[in-house]
Formats: sequence, C-alpha cells, structure tokens
Amino acid sequence: MLVLGFESSCDETAVALVERGDGKNRVVCEKIKSQVDIHARFGGVVPEIASRTHYESIDLLTAAVLEESGVGLQQVGLLSVTTGPGLIGSLLIALSFAKGLSFRTGIPLVGVDHIAAHIEAAFIGHPEIEFPLLALVVSGGHTTLFQVESRFDLEVLARTRDDAAGEVMDKVARHLGLGYPGGPVLDRMYDPGRDREFEFSHPRMSDGSMDYSFSGYKAAALRQVRRHGIRADHPQLVGLISSLLSSMVDYLVQSLLEAANRHPVAGIVVSGGVSRNSLLRRRLTGACTAKKIPLFLPEPRYCTDNASMIAWLGYESFKAFPEAEYSPGYLNAYSRSPFSRRGPR
Ligand code: KG4
Ligand code: ZN
Repeated sequence: MLVLGFESSCDETAVALVERGDGKNRVVCEKIKSQVDIHARFGGVVPEIASRTHYESIDLLTAAVLEESGVGLQQVGLLSVTTGPGLIGSLLIALSFAKGLSFRTGIPLVGVDHIAAHIEAAFIGHPEIEFPLLALVVSGGHTTLFQVESRFDLEVLARTRDDAAGEVMDKVARHLGLGYPGGPVLDRMYDPGRDREFEFSHPRMSDGSMDYSFSGYKAAALRQVRRHGIRADHPQLVGLISSLLSSMVDYLVQSLLEAANRHPVAGIVVSGGVSRNSLLRRRLTGACTAKKIPLFLPEPRYCTDNASMIAWLGYESFKAFPEAEYSPGYLNAYSRSPFSRRGPR
C-alpha cells in the first residue's frame, strides 16, 4: 500500500510517500522544507511565520513528491497526518490540506500523534524491534520517557518538568550568538579532550520521581558565561560547551539505564532531534552494549521532524484498527500531548 504522510507541527513542512505491506517497507520519496533560515534571525520559531510558510509549501511539496515518485493520487491507499502536539496554527495547515485531499479523493485519512511517530521512526530502519520497549523522545519540545507495551499502549515514566534538552542547547547557543538551532552547532563544537573543564551536576528530583529537569543546566551554563565573560570567540567556549554536553548526555544515558533496571524491556529506542547528537549516540551505544540491551536509534534524517515517520505510523494504525472511522471530518488538531502516567510512579 502507498501511504502519503504530512507533517507541519513546528518549523518543518514535510511530505513523504512510503510503501508498506506485502513485504515492502520503504520510503519512496520525502521532501522537507525546513524553515530554519527563516526563524534563525529571531533565535526561535515564530508561530505566525511558521503557519504562513507551511501554507506556502505544503501543496508544492506534495506535487513534487508525487511527480518524483511517478505516482498518481489514485494509486495512494492511505493519507496520514500529524494531529498534535505542536503549534496549533502550524498543525492546522497539513491537517486541513490532508482533509481536503481526502474529501476530494475519498482516500481514507488517519491522524497520528507526533511523539508516537518519533518512536515509530526507529522502525523504519529496524523492523525487527520487539516490545516491550523503553522509548526516550528527546527533542526541542520534549524530553519524555515511555514504557511501550505495544505500539498503541504507551505509558509515560518520566518527563521534563521544565525545559526540554534540545531547548536548553538552543537557548545557550542563542545566548552566545552561535546560531539556531543550537543542537547541531554544539554537536560540532564538542571536543572530548575538553569536556571536564567546567563542572555540571546531574539534577535530582527531591520527591524521588524519575522526571527530568534541564533548566538548571541552562542557568549553570549562563552563570559561567557571565563569570568568565565567555563570547563566541572566547578561548573557554569549547571547554564550556563540551562540559555541558558531556554532563547532559551522561544524565540522559544514566537515567535511561536506571529506568531499564526498574522496568526490564526487550529493547530501548531513543528518538527526536537531540538523538542526532553524535556524543549521545556514542555513549548510548557503549552503555547498551555493556548492559546487553538492544538499542535502536533512527537514522539521523528520521530523528528530526519528518513525514516518513507519520506515514509509517499511519499505516500501522490503519492496519491495527481496520474498523475505525477514517473519514476526514473526525479529525482535529491538539496542541498538548495526550499521553499521561498510568498507575503509580
Ligand atoms: O524533533 P525535532 O526536529 O523537533 C521537535 O519535535 O522539537 O527536534 C529539534 C531539536 C532542536 O532543539 C535541535 O537543536 C535539536 O533537536 N538537534 C540536536 C541535533 N540536531 C538537532 N541536538 C543535539 N545534537 C544534534 N546533532
Ligand atoms: Zn519532533
């Protein structure tokens, strides 16, 4: 079955065509229009500009994907679109576009959750993944750890109580005038020989919960910046960034291993934009190999926002719930994550 996926929850407009079923599991074509250059001068995403840019791009990207794939809409069996969480004005662009296509063509339309789709991204390259899983989604908007019993049974074990990990990287980079988004800039700047020049400690929740906190990292980094007068060309900059990254990555890896001790699973998935980070990928791989826990990381291009993961999960949803209503009138966008904790922490 050919599935056309649409994503516009934040600052990437993406359209992807994937082929699923009958032994075929491949991304046929994906086109992403990143708005990074547009938002860079503001140091973060400006919601109104994001929606407007999605609106200008979504139909052109769709036409380009179909043309490059040599596929007509009549060959597409399913449409899949992100319904949330995200910027509501942005979400509504792909959702309205997909609804229009579905009304016009009669192709069934399925709505998928963006966070669940980030986890699904690991399955694009790893169909062998088995449940139950621990899945950490770590991005600019989220740092949430899930116990995943099955694809549609997710329970939140921990989430950040303040900033997301990527948000801290973006804010520190912005403060230092290093560019936007900060994650990739800091990744390139990391020097393993200089990651102990500054001291950062791991946050701990006083109530014993596994929840994350990253705002302390931001405050500590900015304190050092002020104390030493660090600027973009300062000799201590690389030491500060390397020490910050090293501590944040260790914190993420250690809390994941602690969770794996408490909740034995068949494997671990780490996804979302920050899972592109090379130090995080290296240390996760080392730690999971030592503990003999299978680790699944999406290919870097499927870590950040994309529509292949949306199409992939849409197909799984359609297959798992064949009796559900797939007509476009039923779908609505939501800005906040619907996932909550079940049972005692
Ligand atoms: O998943 P994503 O594209 O959007 C959200 O759903 O938030 O993630 C974007 C985030 C940004 O904070 C960006 O700085 C971060 O992912 N990021 C990285 C890297 N590439 C992107 N963080 C660390 N290292 C990277 N290589
Ligand atoms: Zn995302």
